[in-house]
Amino acid sequence: MSSDKAEIYEQVTKEILAVLEGERNEIARMATISCLLHAAFSNRIWTGFYIVDPEKPEELVVGPYQGSLGCLRIPFGKGVCGAAAQSLKTQIVKDVHAFPGHIACDSRSVSEIVVPVQNSRGELIAVLDIDSELPAMFDENDQKALDALVSQTFS
Ligand code: SME
Repeated sequence: MSSDKAEIYEQVTKEILAVLEGERNEIARMATISCLLHAAFSNRIWTGFYIVDPEKPEELVVGPYQGSLGCLRIPFGKGVCGAAAQSLKTQIVKDVHAFPGHIACDSRSVSEIVVPVQNSRGELIAVLDIDSELPAMFDENDQKALDALVSQTFS
């Protein structure tokens, strides 16, 4: 990861933790993370959360996000978000056109990373999805930084 990117993650993580101190509401936490994370980087068209729907536990419903219009619902196992939710594993997709079943909410999307979000009991509550209009914008360094952010803010 370029040191610039590492520095941005370090800075934005500090900022997020400072703003969220004492705030337990999950929607407020997700909204704050989406806003600050999206604003911290360029070349990203969507940053936000899909939440596990309590009424339909095998389905994700759109949560707080920044960027262009997101699809409302994604079943587990469908697209990149659904794959992350089903496998509980972070998905890094360098070119979405090569990902079978990718859901194109915005046709400009080319690469993306989706990180599962688990609570302190280890239950999946959401996924964090970040999309870019450029190819191969995400790698294991993004994964490391985002895994750390998500576990500090939700577990
Ligand atoms: N690309 C995602 C869908 C969500 S949006 O792009 C905002 C996917 O395939 O899971």
